[in-house]
Amino acid sequence: MRGMARGCGEAKWVSTVLLIFGLFATILGEDGLISNGDFETPPSGGFTSEGVPDSPTSVPSWRSNGTVELVKSGQRQGGMILIIPEGTHAVRLGNDAEISQDVTVEKGSTYSVTFSAARTCGQLESINVSVPPASQTIDLQTVYNIQGWDPYAWAFVAEDNEAKIVFKNPGMEDDPTCGPIIDDVAIKKIIAPDRPKDNAVVNGDFEEGPWLFRNTSLGVLLPTNLDEDTSSLPGWIVESNRAVRYIDSYHFAVPEGKRAVELLSGKEGIISQMVKTKPNTDYRLSFLLGHANDKCKLPMAVVALAGDQAKSIHYMPNSNPTFQNESLNFTAKAERTHIAFYSVYYNSDGMSSLCGPVVDDVRVWFSRARKGVHGGGLLGAGAGLLSVLLLVALF
Ligand SMILES: *[C@@H]1O[C@H](CO)[C@@H](O)[C@H](O)[C@H]1NC(C)=O
Ligand SMILES: *[C@@H]1O[C@H](CO)[C@@H](O)[C@H](O)[C@H]1NC(C)=O
Ligand SMILES: *[C@@H]1O[C@H](CO)[C@@H](O)[C@H](O)[C@H]1NC(C)=O
Ligand SMILES: *[C@@H]1O[C@H](CO)[C@@H](O)[C@H](O)[C@H]1NC(C)=O
Ligand SMILES: *[C@@H]1O[C@H](CO)[C@@H](O)[C@H](O)[C@H]1NC(C)=O
Repeated sequence: MRGMARGCGEAKWVSTVLLIFGLFATILGEDGLISNGDFETPPSGGFTSEGVPDSPTSVPSWRSNGTVELVKSGQRQGGMILIIPEGTHAVRLGNDAEISQDVTVEKGSTYSVTFSAARTCGQLESINVSVPPASQTIDLQTVYNIQGWDPYAWAFVAEDNEAKIVFKNPGMEDDPTCGPIIDDVAIKKIIAPDRPKDNAVVNGDFEEGPWLFRNTSLGVLLPTNLDEDTSSLPGWIVESNRAVRYIDSYHFAVPEGKRAVELLSGKEGIISQMVKTKPNTDYRLSFLLGHANDKCKLPMAVVALAGDQAKSIHYMPNSNPTFQNESLNFTAKAERTHIAFYSVYYNSDGMSSLCGPVVDDVRVWFSRARKGVHGGGLLGAGAGLLSVLLLVALF
């Protein structure tokens, strides 16, 4: 009896601590789904068959303006079944309609917003995601996945301790019931990793990146982003007009760690970074090239660029392990050198999901100093020591 009473007291104590922690997490802003970010919380009157909320606050935790409609799985429109990315409900934004939520953030920090989007009937559907004054319009014409919807990530720098995340349909379709569907909105604070001592590439292993839902098997698309200081994938930019896919090891084959990047859409999906270099110095770029194990059809190849050097490398289907360690030598010409990767082919899984080669563990470091070394272990070791000293001096 006494034991039980004590156990009960402990449980109470633990739950109080958990409650306090939970409260703190809410106050400080937690990574993950935002409040009713999956639109599964029923409105005060319950989910109605009509779905059109009658006031700006009828979607719990959100504010809406214009024709914002809660849609549910199985719902038809013009003979077509609407696509609900996850769960049983999502929201559809009519012409010029928007939905917004204030979230607690930390002033000066970078955040990435992950959300799922599907288009309905519009030919030119797009979604404007913003945290004013920052915004980006994401084109929903290319559906990267056979499931008909895609998760996207977009980053912003918090100018205050509160941020209003706004999703707006900038379209003006003839049919007002058309418009993009939004679901699963999550936020994650992005912490740019330090530049490693022996590698000039920041986040070369891609371990830091946008929020990925543990049970979403589609990765997250990173659309064009030329601002390296405001990136969902710190250190990197997406310099092409199509997206690349950020993938995790729970649903894809990832060469190293838990995260990597899958290059989609040939030359239209390029990731790059300006790495710090010393002019007139020999460097080596190395990376792991793999297959995401997502039924992507071969042949598959990647072009790696470093300064004025370029190399096209094919993925070998029978390689064991399932990834290859590849490299490219280059001589830096400036204080910063552009490195980039894109897919040679436009690959798909044979259905209608876009896919491509996976790149991971990108490194740039001094290639062994050759000049002045006339062979001999001691001299070689001396050169090694010299490059270590140079490295220390550089970083
Ligand atoms: C709602 O949207 C309209 C049109 O975009 C805009 O003029 C109006 O100010 C918005 N209302 C609120 C409360 O934001
Ligand atoms: C993930 O799965 C859990 C349990 O199956 C579910 O409650 C949750 O809504 C799912 N999350 C997303 C984002 O789909
Ligand atoms: C997207 O929305 C933001 C904030 O409402 C606005 O400032 C920006 O002009 C919009 N962009 C486009 C292309 O409509
Ligand atoms: C790939 O090769 C480089 C040297 O070329 C090496 O430093 C790195 O550890 C290798 N990575 C793996 C995973 O084998
Ligand atoms: C790159 O440079 C290293 C060190 O100088 C050398 O061992 C290697 O063979 C070179 N690789 C290529 C492909 O030239």
